[in-house]
Amino acid sequence: KARTITNICCIGAGYVGGPTMAVIAQKCPHIKVTVVDINAQRIADWNDVDLNKLPIYEPGLADVVAEARGRNLFFSTDVDQAIDEAEMIFISVNTPTKTYGVGKGMAADLKYIELCARQIARVSKDDKIIVEKSTLPVRTAEALRTILTSTGNGVNFEILSSPEFLAEGTAIQDLMNPDRFLIGGEQTESGEAAVQSLVDIYANWVPRENIVTTRVWSSELSKLTANAFLAQRVSSINAISALCERTGADVDEIARAIGKDSRIGAKFIKSSVGFGGSCFQKDILNLVYLCQHFNLPEVAAYWEQVIKMNDYQKHRFAKKMIDSLFNTVSGKKIAFLGWAFKKDTNDTRESAAIYVADELLQDRAEIHVYDPKVTEEQIFADLEYLQEHRPNSCHSSEFEKLSSDEIRSLVTVHNDPYEAMKSAHATAILTEWDEFKTYDWKRVYNKMLKPAFVFDGRNIVSKTDLEQIGFRVYNIGKGE
Ligand code: NAD
Ligand code: UGA
Repeated sequence: KARTITNICCIGAGYVGGPTMAVIAQKCPHIKVTVVDINAQRIADWNDVDLNKLPIYEPGLADVVAEARGRNLFFSTDVDQAIDEAEMIFISVNTPTKTYGVGKGMAADLKYIELCARQIARVSKDDKIIVEKSTLPVRTAEALRTILTSTGNGVNFEILSSPEFLAEGTAIQDLMNPDRFLIGGEQTESGEAAVQSLVDIYANWVPRENIVTTRVWSSELSKLTANAFLAQRVSSINAISALCERTGADVDEIARAIGKDSRIGAKFIKSSVGFGGSCFQKDILNLVYLCQHFNLPEVAAYWEQVIKMNDYQKHRFAKKMIDSLFNTVSGKKIAFLGWAFKKDTNDTRESAAIYVADELLQDRAEIHVYDPKVTEEQIFADLEYLQEHRPNSCHSSEFEKLSSDEIRSLVTVHNDPYEAMKSAHATAILTEWDEFKTYDWKRVYNKMLKPAFVFDGRNIVSKTDLEQIGFRVYNIGKGE
């Protein structure tokens, strides 16, 4: 019989743990939800009375937190206590690409997951349902089970996989009206009961037909597959964008034309400077690693190409900028509009802007960044991190490592977009923030050096309008 859950703990108060648990708490006032994290600052920010200080920016999130926090939603650093009290524990910690040892640069680093499992095993005094919320390689549940049962206090653990499909910037909407929630469980009596317990929670607001249940391994692998398919669509349209630029076709027109085919669909075929975000690249690398591990080199090579195409697209954009600016950007002021990996988020992980900036900095450009939500600190941290962890793609193998001082002398962060663009040789649009469309581009033109270039990496401003003002405009995938 399915256990009725009244107390949930979620380990990891990040982009997934925070919003997911906030929505569960809002929709299930009868369940106490405690989100814990080892990062004390993050927890303090989640508890800040000023809702503008929440650690992540997501439209609609503050309202949900305001409603549930202190009622049945709590944020805490006391991980042991929350584990001890919970009947169901979601693991929502980060699973980045390994930066060391076996599988370096490819495999998912499961050390945080393992630490959680060991802590759960040590603390638990009664039976618990463990839910994998993080994105994990297929068969991680097996490793979790081994740790839990061999180091635990003899209590019973049921392990479910319930990967998260929310996208940043629309997280609250995605959680409120999901295309589906997925739950993978074991096909034993106790496994099925555990699945039912989680179904009962989601069913408080999600129609039953949108709650998909599968075996554990299928659920784990569905998550990697979904991200691989989504990223593949972006790389596919970006591949076509390069051909458009050579042939005079227009990639946005092509997307409109093919998107009308219901088998293809209109979503996720917007050509861009390249996909970013914490997950697409990491999850595909993880998938490629799994394929190699299971001795499927053809399958591995197939998916790896999605990443190569994305690297190519970012590089192509940077190269186009340098070529257009008479083959050097050294000492030239270049404005960057946007640093986040997409609009409506302050998340910058793997943002195309970081890679484009890095390439221009190799030529000693002076980059002036404006992003409505990203902090100066974050921008420097991103560039500094990349110097230590630059992936080995063909065009960046010769890149120099820049010191922190060099980065800080070449990059300036602005609060005012017009200041960022003043006296600039070129403006590059890296994120599709809506506000960029509404700028007074005539005013911008008057303040920029001539010839004034706009490189629109998101195709959000009108090429015709800008050219009428006098700009030289480069879009993605629009041939002459
Ligand atoms: P994140 O880095 O924002 O958050 C993870 C949090 O876990 C951090 O705050 C970290 O301090 C905490 N943590 C790590 N180890 C801990 C431990 N032992 N005890 C307590 N706290 C610990 O990561 P995220 O973006 O929320 O992603 C989490 C997982 O969800 C990843 O596997 C990711 O692939 C997956 N995912 C992310 C998204 C997304 O949009 N970001 C969407 C779907 C799935
Ligand atoms: C993505 C998936 O969409 C989510 O379903 C998944 O849960 C999540 O990854 C995850 O596992 O982390 P996210 O990375 O937050 O979500 O954002 P997306 O909207 O998918 O955008 C990813 C990147 O692709 C962005 O840089 C975006 O600008 C780019 N993109 C997206 C395009 O260039 N063109 C498109 O048509 C769509």
